[in-house]
Amino acid sequence: MNTSDSNSNIIWHEGKITYDDRCENLGQEGMVVWFTGLSGSGKSTIAVEVERELIKARKAVYRLDGDNIRHGLNSDLGFSAEDRNENIRRIAEVAALMKDAGLITLASFISPFQEMRDFARKKAGEDNFIEIYVKADVETCAQRDPKGLYDKAKKGEIDNFTGISSPYEEPEEPELVLDTTKLSLEESVKKVLTEINS
Ligand SMILES: Nc1ncnc2c1ncn2[C@@H]1O[C@H](COP(=O)(O)OP(=O)(O)OP(=O)(O)O)[C@@H](O)[C@H]1O
Ligand SMILES: [Mg+2]
Repeated sequence: MNTSDSNSNIIWHEGKITYDDRCENLGQEGMVVWFTGLSGSGKSTIAVEVERELIKARKAVYRLDGDNIRHGLNSDLGFSAEDRNENIRRIAEVAALMKDAGLITLASFISPFQEMRDFARKKAGEDNFIEIYVKADVETCAQRDPKGLYDKAKKGEIDNFTGISSPYEEPEEPELVLDTTKLSLEESVKKVLTEINS
């Protein structure tokens, strides 16, 4: 565990159980599977099915999802660039803790900035992080509009909407790209499971 951000009055209290002990207990490696992409690209839809398949395979898995986290842990945050970064910073910390507990952690967040995705990778550790770019063009996402958000954004009812009034930085070196304008849900799920098991 990295203790470098602790100030001098806060002392790390070491336990007697290591990360390897926890993995051995669960019979799996901990991992963070990070889904990034525009709203409506399919992050949550894919992660939900991946979670179901992993549970069927008796893996210990947990799903973190943008909207759900904004109901609780991050309910104090908005969508300015600063708040988006803080949103992802907290999620990255939580995901890294879950990974440290030995869980396969599925994180679905628009996470539009490369810097913050790199932060999440650093927290989890390079060997335990899979970045998945769930790719769909903004026109397709706006057509799907499962939450009616693009409609509102175009009417100017939502500020800082990624792809419309706020930027999305495409991943530089993702482990996997899922073009959901071409792949079926089943095909995407299969590719993610293959990546997790590789
Ligand atoms: N090939 C596909 N793969 C995944 N989703 C698809 C596909 N084709 C159509 N869809 C539809 O696209 C929508 C994707 O919505 P979803 O909520 O998963 O997006 P999201 O990336 O999680 O968005 P948000 O960032 O707003 O949470 C769903 O309604 C889903 O049924
Ligand atoms: Mg979602």
